[in-house]
Amino acid sequence: MKKFLAVLLAVLMVFAICSCEKKVDEQQSENEETENVVDAPEENAEEAGEEAGDDAGEEAGEDETPAENSTITMATNAYFKPYEFYEGDKIVGIDAEIAEEIAKKLGKELVIEDMEFSTIITAVQEGSVDFGMAGMTVTEERKESVDFSSSYANGVQSIIVKEDSPITSVDDLYADGASYKVGVQLGTTGDIYSTDDFGEDNVIQYSKGNEAVLALVGGSVDCVIIDDEPAKALVAENEGLKILDTSYADEDYAICVAKGNGDLLAAINAAIDELTLDGTIDAIVAKYIK
Ligand code: ARG
Repeated sequence: MKKFLAVLLAVLMVFAICSCEKKVDEQQSENEETENVVDAPEENAEEAGEEAGDDAGEEAGEDETPAENSTITMATNAYFKPYEFYEGDKIVGIDAEIAEEIAKKLGKELVIEDMEFSTIITAVQEGSVDFGMAGMTVTEERKESVDFSSSYANGVQSIIVKEDSPITSVDDLYADGASYKVGVQLGTTGDIYSTDDFGEDNVIQYSKGNEAVLALVGGSVDCVIIDDEPAKALVAENEGLKILDTSYADEDYAICVAKGNGDLLAAINAAIDELTLDGTIDAIVAKYIK
């Protein structure tokens, strides 16, 4: 009987090991399909390791998210040049590069997950990603759902129109009797503010900024309200468009983390401070914004 039990146990253990390995395999191939893993460059591996030691020591035990995994996952919406966009199948841009520097400081490998902009905050809240970075504006309303890091850049909501548009300044949008159709990216501050100002019926939401611009080119909206740098990139890519001199809103961009994830927020803020002081952030911005 004892012998039988021993054999049974051995068989069960073999099964358990096999099914575990399978899960890991499945998980790996899943990750390969959906995520953009940005590897730390070889020459920095040693440095990153050292820093990992320092930072992990400080954080260990208090906060599961940064200390326990070797990767850190950023949610973004990669149709927002020059902050995040695809170069081939890799996500590059100001945010992607700053995030990579932050990850290095935390001793983590950065994984970028591309999603609809309007789902980033929920993903952060639910913990399916560690942080959101997407040229995301700090707003009082968003602060009720997530915590923001210190700001690493400023943004401006700009207005794109056709070159021959009757809209010549932001005031025209508010003029008596004016009823212009405004194109925006769903869930962005351009969407939120213009819906407040001009009413739901006059605001048409698109999943991506460039889709709003195509609608402008095609004549189904009269203007597009979007952040200034993406606006410049979109105007450069499409003929017959211009950006109005008057802007619609001024804003600050920051990284968001789940509420209560104070250790991660502190680590990100410390990294942003260092990267600001040593000129890294300026250098990254200068690479993309001439
Ligand atoms: N700054 C705006 C906002 O926070 C737009 C950001 C859109 N970002 C993006 N990656 N598509 O609402």
